[in-house]
Amino acid sequence: MVPGRPSVPPPAATIGAVADASLFERVGGREGVDRIVETFYGFVEADAVQRAIYPDDLEPGKRKLKLFFEQWLGGEPVYSALYGHPRLRRRHFPFVIDDLAAGRWLRYMQAAMSECGVPREATAVIFERLGPLAHHMVNAGEDIPREPLGDRFME
Ligand code: HEM
Repeated sequence: MVPGRPSVPPPAATIGAVADASLFERVGGREGVDRIVETFYGFVEADAVQRAIYPDDLEPGKRKLKLFFEQWLGGEPVYSALYGHPRLRRRHFPFVIDDLAAGRWLRYMQAAMSECGVPREATAVIFERLGPLAHHMVNAGEDIPREPLGDRFME
């Protein structure tokens, strides 16, 4: 249960969702997802160029990525109960993302999953979807609204 928000049904429109409870289990469930995201953020922090894309405080983003992954991998849809439709491309508008940043994001996520012991075939299934999704987030040079969105609930 999520305080302050009614439960919402899982969003059918989550882009490229791999909603499959067994996949969520294969990454180690909620604990596995938490470990992967912590490890991923460790790589981001160690790379000054990638780090510069993120806000000073990394904790809110970490929390949201954990909730999003949990939902996207077939766990509970708590992310959408709190924030609504993921609208990931829109939510990334405040951050300038180029092809190189997308490549680094994917490399660090791959390294995090490997370090956290996600089985190779589960990683392969996940990256079939994550690859296009990360490149879909590229927005450098686009004339789009860059104002911060915070914790906005989106329909
Ligand atoms: C392509 C390279 C990417 C970069 C450089 C990037 C960077 C960022 C940044 C800077 C934030 C804001 C963090 C904060 O507010 O503290 C963010 C948020 C987020 N990112 Fe990414 N991201 C990328 C790709 C992805 C992908 C592929 C996914 C999903 C599979 C994803 C999922 C999320 C989620 C769920 C949030 C929180 C959105 C919200 O509710 O505000 N990102 N990302």
